[in-house]
Amino acid sequence: MIAWNRKDLVALEELTPAEITHILDTAAAFKQVGTRDIKKVPSLRGKTLVNFFVEPSTRTRISFELAAVRLSADVVNISVSTSSLTKGETLKDTALNLQALHSDIIVLRHSSAGAAQFLAERLAASVINAGDGSHEHPTQALLDTFTIREKLGKLEGLHVAIIGDILFSRVARSNIHALLKLGARITLVGPSTLVPREFEKMGVAVTHRIDDILEDADVVNLLRIQHERQRQEYFPSLGEYTALFGLTKERAARLKPNALIMHPGPINRGVEIDSDIADSGRSVILDQVTNGLAVRMAVLYLCAGARGK
Ligand code: CP
Repeated sequence: MIAWNRKDLVALEELTPAEITHILDTAAAFKQVGTRDIKKVPSLRGKTLVNFFVEPSTRTRISFELAAVRLSADVVNISVSTSSLTKGETLKDTALNLQALHSDIIVLRHSSAGAAQFLAERLAASVINAGDGSHEHPTQALLDTFTIREKLGKLEGLHVAIIGDILFSRVARSNIHALLKLGARITLVGPSTLVPREFEKMGVAVTHRIDDILEDADVVNLLRIQHERQRQEYFPSLGEYTALFGLTKERAARLKPNALIMHPGPINRGVEIDSDIADSGRSVILDQVTNGLAVRMAVLYLCAGARGK
């Protein structure tokens, strides 16, 4: 057991293996709470959480809201289209106004890398990064590692293949940091334009052939092509991408019998993953979503508890 003293969660790169394990263990305890008749605990009673999403989200925004409700916090949701950001108010001024209204926790999703760190350094409130540009998406990687540990019983020594658009993926970066710290081996798979060999400096393997990992991987984590962050074409067509890197039925049949098929969502069915494979018993995609609730309860509980320490 460690003493948690971080008011913010901005990036997994800065966490120690013990801190990551502590979040996963705390999440496991909160998952138990979810199986009880009365699923609410009073841990954040009297606290106010603001969900401040400057980019679209389904899973992350709703699961932070549900996590806060389960912890008995009050929740306010702000979307960019209904905020004064549309009138030119800066991110900093918006956040200072939220703090002036006695917000205790701000969950921020933003298209700019570094936005969460920027606020964390300026606010007394806890700032939780719900995805900042191509930088990090820490709670996604925490729920991914939680799901792997839950399903396969460990992380140490496992071979995790992350397939797809790595270059623009905050999910990939956070997963790389978390999984390496917890002892997993990682291979990044995708076209050379989206998976440059530069990533090898992080301590991972890189291949541009999906055939290289199918028989050996314990986990395949498929990523969406993030058109919203790409300013040029990185491969000839979606059809060619699917032909070379999609998890088709034929490729899925070559995976180990107990290999996990993961995806952070949203899925592009028929592009990075065959629709039937996404719905098959080997896919843990919806388990990931369920586990996101417990993981986000743990993060809110720990960070809010560290304020003022
Ligand atoms: N995985 C994920 O971040 O999904 P949302 O964009 O729907 O939150």
